Amino acid sequence: MPDTELLSLQTDHIQALQQRYEQAMAAHGYDSLLISSGAAPMRYGDDQSWHFQGYGPFLHWTGLTGQEHSWLLLRPGEPPLLWLYQPIDFWHANLELPEEPWQQVIEVRYSQQREAPSMEVSGKLAVIGDPASLAEVPGDHNPVQLLAALDETRVHKTLYEIACLARANEIAVLGHKAARDTFLAGGSEFEINLAYQRATGQREAEAPYHSIIGLNEHAGTLHYQYYDTEAPARSRSLLIDAGVRFRGYCSDITRTTPAADEGRFAALAQGLGQLQHRLCEMVAPGVDYVAIHRKTHEGIAALLSAAGVVSGLDDKALVEQGITRAFFPHGIGHFLGIQVHDVAGKRKPSPADAPLLRLTRTLEPGMVVTIEPGLYIIPSLLGPFLNGPLGEHFNHAVIDELQGCGGIRIEDNVLVTAEGARNLTREAGG
Ligand code: GLY
Ligand code: MN
Ligand code: MN
Repeated sequence: MPDTELLSLQTDHIQALQQRYEQAMAAHGYDSLLISSGAAPMRYGDDQSWHFQGYGPFLHWTGLTGQEHSWLLLRPGEPPLLWLYQPIDFWHANLELPEEPWQQVIEVRYSQQREAPSMEVSGKLAVIGDPASLAEVPGDHNPVQLLAALDETRVHKTLYEIACLARANEIAVLGHKAARDTFLAGGSEFEINLAYQRATGQREAEAPYHSIIGLNEHAGTLHYQYYDTEAPARSRSLLIDAGVRFRGYCSDITRTTPAADEGRFAALAQGLGQLQHRLCEMVAPGVDYVAIHRKTHEGIAALLSAAGVVSGLDDKALVEQGITRAFFPHGIGHFLGIQVHDVAGKRKPSPADAPLLRLTRTLEPGMVVTIEPGLYIIPSLLGPFLNGPLGEHFNHAVIDELQGCGGIRIEDNVLVTAEGARNLTREAGG
């Protein structure tokens, strides 16, 4: 999509937000709403701050992830008013805002003060944001029911948001291809990370989350957080879970690549890939997301038996005994948007058989979800089974072999449409 089209969609997006926010405010008795972008806290005992990424509702309107101490005021029937913090500061640069159509629907003012602007507002004011930024501000701070209603405005993506999420996928897919090439050429985790950043043109502090890059057994740690600077003597597998932000919107993609001579692990990865494809095909309006999670457990049970990892237990028993959960301990996915784990996923709590599931809703057009089945060899989860009364059903030699490859996760970003779904990651060539 050309940039001009994207930018015109942004104006529609802001108008849609205006309607949604006004409705939420009216329903909860508020006449105006002030949104804080937030600010990065300082590290204790240090003169350095943490990396900053702005507060969700502020980004929902502006996409400006790096703007600290900025404020957005919404009043029904009036154009939104945005105060951007632009101090006179010889240590830091101020953002140069490119001229874009959204500035015709949001009034922009520049401010040298970090505190909330003095405003002429009548009636009841709500103020939302990190409480650390709200201390002296008048009005009701973070009213819980209003916050829930505002979270709900983020569930059904506008056309602008869908275009941004699609672009975030296109960019991240370039990074994943570079990462894979670097792995196959014998690169270390650190070098794979550099290749990913070079290809996506985004430094890690701006990405939605720190890229998870695990070689060999590191791939078995769900959110493995280190980067070895030396490649292992034998690189057997790569798991990379990495996204980018585009105009604030996130992609969240995982790929697993076996080395050329890893026959057993490659077969398992291929089987999980086929399962992931079937799960993505389930995405459609009216489908209970929890059902996709449960279908994943059935699929993993079948894979474990087919791969000879377990034997003598049927698929139902593998699920009911908690064995599939030891290999796949996380949820099948979550909402995706301006935050990587986007809000409002749970109107009802996660069921007892899926305690870590972040999304328990029935799918509707406009929702964007991840589908990310995984299969890992995690000693702390498998140990009680291997050494317990069901231990004889496990092929210990196969598990030992697979443990050196860590695990598999395959993650795509999928939009629910009126007709079914669009897989934004595969559309992008991922
Ligand atoms: N990248 C974190 C997740 O997949 O949820
Ligand atoms: Mn991920
Ligand atoms: Mn995810």
